[in-house]
Amino acid sequence: MGEIRKAGLLREKTRQIKPSAPAGRLDLGAGALIPLTMVQDTSDTLTDTHNRTVRYLRLSITDRCNLRCLYCRGGKDFFPMAHENVLRYEELARLIRVAASLHIDKVRLTGGEPLTRRGFFDFLDMARAAAPLASFRLTTNGVLLPGLARRLDASGIAGINISLDTLRPEKYREITGHDGFAAVRRGIDEAIEAGLRVKINAVALRGVNEDDLPGFIELARRLPLDVRLIEFMPVGGESAWSENLYWNAGDILARANQLAELVPDAERAQCAGPAKMWRIAGGAGRFGLITALSGHFCDACNRLRVTSDGRLRTCLFSDKEYRLAGVLRNAKLSDGHLRRIIALASKNKPLGHDLLLARQARSVCLKRMSAIGG
Ligand code: 5AD
Ligand code: SF4
Repeated sequence: MGEIRKAGLLREKTRQIKPSAPAGRLDLGAGALIPLTMVQDTSDTLTDTHNRTVRYLRLSITDRCNLRCLYCRGGKDFFPMAHENVLRYEELARLIRVAASLHIDKVRLTGGEPLTRRGFFDFLDMARAAAPLASFRLTTNGVLLPGLARRLDASGIAGINISLDTLRPEKYREITGHDGFAAVRRGIDEAIEAGLRVKINAVALRGVNEDDLPGFIELARRLPLDVRLIEFMPVGGESAWSENLYWNAGDILARANQLAELVPDAERAQCAGPAKMWRIAGGAGRFGLITALSGHFCDACNRLRVTSDGRLRTCLFSDKEYRLAGVLRNAKLSDGHLRRIIALASKNKPLGHDLLLARQARSVCLKRMSAIGG
């Protein structure tokens, strides 16, 4: 524990936000020192050099979490970011307003665990006022969800992704380090009752939750929700990724086809994301796979991520970051500067699978998943 804390503290130091560089240049991190004059202010839709349009912003509002999932934190506790480095709600709302001015129309609030951050519902009101036309979604582990579903619905959350990797309480404790299964399960029922669109996300872990596949399919048959298995990605310095734990989508689908009659769902909602979905004959919900590793969906990627300390990341598999916090906190810099940086970063959005292939199976991105936000 001492070692982990020490390592955490060291990392903390390197995360201090540096003031912006002087003389009309912005220090954006990642070695990028960009003359402001080179980037035009814009209110155009964000596009990149691979013909992709960026319309979706995932904001991690805290790196803190009440769980320590194997695939995210390697089952360990860690030292959270210093409070002053985490973007304040006003800063997040400004970022959302600026993003909306660039035609971002979908915003997902993630973490860590967003519901652990004090004042979350006040923030939600601020966020919606900042982008009245955007669709707001929430990603949560669901532990704190019981009792909140109606309020989330009333606050304008359009959909909620709930992480649940197993349907067995004991296994849940093994994976997440917490006895939270019953609470999450209740939260799911309440979310459906409240009329929220619910997606269950389960990271597929070979030898860990393989036995849950029949249960997941049954859940999607019985309830009007999507259950999506996500291939385990070697993302984040602390993740316990290993070849042995990787359960690929092809194998999952072969097993699932033996368990139920799956009918491919051709109808893809707008901004449906990278999941392949199936209806279950006679069922209420859908079953899906997110082929994070085995299938290349980079071509259709429309998202940007902002970490809880205000670093813009354009690809899950790249450690390149544009430090927005320094810009947000510099009174001399305007929304126009933010727009320019976001436009520039979007333009240079890479194709992640190139990066993935180049780095092979090693952890491809060192930042913790909980700081980036899934
Ligand atoms: N691989 C795949 N998905 C992950 N998530 C977190 N870490 C990983 C990983 N290494 C996803 C999980 C989690 C959400 C917040 O992000 O679905 O529930
Ligand atoms: Fe927390 Fe989500 Fe990471 Fe699990 S995956 S430890 S719930 S941030």
